[in-house]
Amino acid sequence: MATIELRNITKQYRQAGNVINALDDVSLTIDGGEFLSIVGRSGSGKTTLLDICGLLMRPTSGQVFIDGADAASLPERRRAELRGRAIGFVFQEYNLIPTLDVLGNVMLPLRYSGGDRRDGRDRAMGLLQAVGMSDRVGHRPDQLSGGQQQRVAIARSLIQRPALLLADEPTGAVDTQTAAELLDMLRGLSREDGVTVAIVTHDLDLAASTDRTVRLQDGRVVEDSAGVRVAAA
Ligand SMILES: Nc1ncnc2c1ncn2[C@@H]1O[C@H](COP(=O)(O)OP(=O)(O)O)[C@@H](O)[C@H]1O
Ligand SMILES: [Mg+2]
Repeated sequence: MATIELRNITKQYRQAGNVINALDDVSLTIDGGEFLSIVGRSGSGKTTLLDICGLLMRPTSGQVFIDGADAASLPERRRAELRGRAIGFVFQEYNLIPTLDVLGNVMLPLRYSGGDRRDGRDRAMGLLQAVGMSDRVGHRPDQLSGGQQQRVAIARSLIQRPALLLADEPTGAVDTQTAAELLDMLRGLSREDGVTVAIVTHDLDLAASTDRTVRLQDGRVVEDSAGVRVAAA
């Protein structure tokens, strides 16, 4: 899978009697192999959008098509399988397991998918090489800097060879130099391996160096560099 189409997506959160319209009629198509950024102020709905694209969350209304198939019609087992096999996630806070070393963290997703353990180990080592962390395989997360932990998280997100990589503020907690390196790595995945890469960021320089930028405001798409200006801001 690689193409995602959102049609008229809304997401409402109910909290203490209030209804929050986190997404309000969002329609968006992300084609296979695109290298895209999603920007907008805090609270504009970026994380909600990413979680819906990644099938981590169901919309209140509207449809999500994954390679033309309506995700809502998929049984939960199949959704979970897609998440595990075809979608990689990178979160701002890394979400590494503190008790596992670097290699253990990168190989963790393989525990749930079977496959040959030696192949998995070789692949994990190759990814750690690619992210410049092969000399830290035995370190635990608390022995690494933020940028190093994020590199490990990126390696982990790629262990299953996802067709789609969703990154939520992946450079939010690292220095500028590291952010530029991480971005290069993500661009390479799109360009060289055809992975669809969507990055949520509040860094406009970073956004400008992706191929397409979608801007959210109050849960609506107000600008999409791939097409027309969608609505007056
Ligand atoms: N679990 C939740 N319960 C209630 N409100 C939420 C929840 N998650 C997000 N929101 C609200 O939905 C809106 C969009 O949030 P979010 O998608 O996290 O935005 P962003 O990632 O752009 O900061 C915000 O107003 C936020 O407070
Ligand atoms: Mg967010």
